[in-house]
Amino acid sequence: MEENARIALVSGANRGIGEAITAGLANEGVHVLMGCRDLEKGKEAAAPFVAAGLAVTPVQLDITDAASVAALAQQLADSFGHIDILVNNAGVGLDFVPDLSVPEKMAQTLEINVIGTLRLTEAMLPLLSQSSQPRIVNVSSELASFGLRHDPEWEHADKILPTYAASKAALNALTVSYAAQLGPQGFKVNAICPGFTATAATNFLPDRTPEEAAVVAVEMALTGEDGPNGSFSNDRGPLPW
Ligand SMILES: NC(=O)c1ccc[n+]([C@@H]2O[C@H](COP(=O)([O-])OP(=O)(O)OC[C@H]3O[C@@H](n4cnc5c(N)ncnc54)[C@H](OP(=O)(O)O)[C@@H]3O)[C@@H](O)[C@H]2O)c1
Repeated sequence: MEENARIALVSGANRGIGEAITAGLANEGVHVLMGCRDLEKGKEAAAPFVAAGLAVTPVQLDITDAASVAALAQQLADSFGHIDILVNNAGVGLDFVPDLSVPEKMAQTLEINVIGTLRLTEAMLPLLSQSSQPRIVNVSSELASFGLRHDPEWEHADKILPTYAASKAALNALTVSYAAQLGPQGFKVNAICPGFTATAATNFLPDRTPEEAAVVAVEMALTGEDGPNGSFSNDRGPLPW
């Protein structure tokens, strides 16, 4: 492990886009803490990275569990005293789940995508505040974009996922509030859309790989002093809110 390597925490890192963000950051010399609900799955996911000599450590993290989040914050405070990067990647989309009412889908989605993300962010702020270049990346979705939803030519106009989109719109609102609040302290807080990507969340449908999806998240996590704060973008550039 590089001495003085930056330290990143990625939530939902045991699979999909979170796993690819882990790889992308670790390949840039960042020590990545892979936040995983099931630590055994995390150890399995981390094994190939560790075998390849990358600085990757699985840690237990369920963002809906206050005790899990508090325990991790304490563990990181004791081990490192700070972190540099938080990637809020953990998230769900429940719009197509059978046997749940729409209000149940909304409540569960908000609990994970919004309240869970807020819980983790609040717990990590003291550790991020100890960094000289604190960065927060919120993994959002262009499905939350009001501007794109109003464009009939938008390539995803046929994808209507009301509770998921509402949760990511709330995440976008948190992004701009945190950016305004923390920007004066040197933070960069940005939302990204990884793009429609083949993961368990999409039944592995599109051709886009998690590695392609991770590029914009890694770029924002490593953005320099001149980088954006309070932005929403994908790998093609800024997105309308
Ligand atoms: N795939 C796409 O097309 C797409 C497009 C735009 C945005 N996104 C966003 O990208 C992010 C990653 O999605 P993905 O496609 O990689 O999905 P995925 O393969 O389903 O991975 C989701 C990850 O989140 C974790 N997670 C779920 N609930 C959690 C909780 N309470 N605490 C901690 N971790 C939790 C999962 O852990 P378990 O394995 O334990 O369930 C898993 O590691 C999500 O925020 C998603 O909304 C995805």
